[in-house]
Amino acid sequence: MTGTAAPPRYDRIGHGYASTRREDPRLRERILAALGGARSVVNVGAGTGSYEPRDREVIAIEPSRVMTAQRPPAAAPAVRAMAQGLPLADDSVDAAMAVLSLHHWDEHQEQGVRELRRVATGPVVLLTCDPEVSGAMWLMADYLPEVADLDRVTFPTMEQLAAWLGGRTQVEAIPVPRDTPDWTLMSFWAHPERVLDAAARQATSGFARMPSAVVERVMAAVRRDLADGTWDARHGALRRLDAYDAGLRLLRNTL
Ligand SMILES: C[S@@+](CC[C@H](N)C(=O)[O-])C[C@H]1O[C@@H](n2cnc3c(N)ncnc32)[C@H](O)[C@@H]1O
Repeated sequence: MTGTAAPPRYDRIGHGYASTRREDPRLRERILAALGGARSVVNVGAGTGSYEPRDREVIAIEPSRVMTAQRPPAAAPAVRAMAQGLPLADDSVDAAMAVLSLHHWDEHQEQGVRELRRVATGPVVLLTCDPEVSGAMWLMADYLPEVADLDRVTFPTMEQLAAWLGGRTQVEAIPVPRDTPDWTLMSFWAHPERVLDAAARQATSGFARMPSAVVERVMAAVRRDLADGTWDARHGALRRLDAYDAGLRLLRNTL
């Protein structure tokens, strides 16, 4: 595996991921539609196998043993490699996908995105986040500006991604349903109580990457604001919505 000697980030923060980060069938349909008729697909940052096609040839690329250990037995075996050095020849698969992964590629983001384009003849499909939109969500805006700040430097803009990929890029906003089984940090828009749930917090890299003093400060503030009605006075209208644009974006690139 290429990269630094440091252990993969998800060997530290990926424990228990599969219990709260289950794939959302509606999002799955959109990702599969974006892959079109591709018969062979490389899934980079494949993690526990969410959103991976089950009826096509799949090459799963995943650096973390903690994540690969949580893949279902029927899923494609994961290849231990990283986005920035895909062990694949040029134009060797029909499509490439990376779902909520590229913000973990650190200084290798551009190289990783170019690798996806290099190996696929057809669409490159990225699920990512627009940090300007996610930063306006109550959690980041009122309680957790540290994550908004980190997101602004770790998520490339859609324009940047399109420039790295070349060709034609379409970007779709994906509202996050209230009842999504994939408890990303963006899913917290509808569930302030999740801030007080250790398993829910831990399975989001936003919380998992924060120092414990920050996490404890946010928990105390949300607990207080839920108990005295402050949260509902400010954001109670959200409790009546079925879905909300918390920043999730589906990007599809073709040459
Ligand atoms: C938030 S998880 C998403 C996993 C899965 N795609 C999903 O949707 O549930 C991010 C994944 O990206 C992987 N990852 C981190 N850095 C990577 C890199 N440089 N190359 C490839 N994958 C990486 C992590 O190990 C982790 O499994």
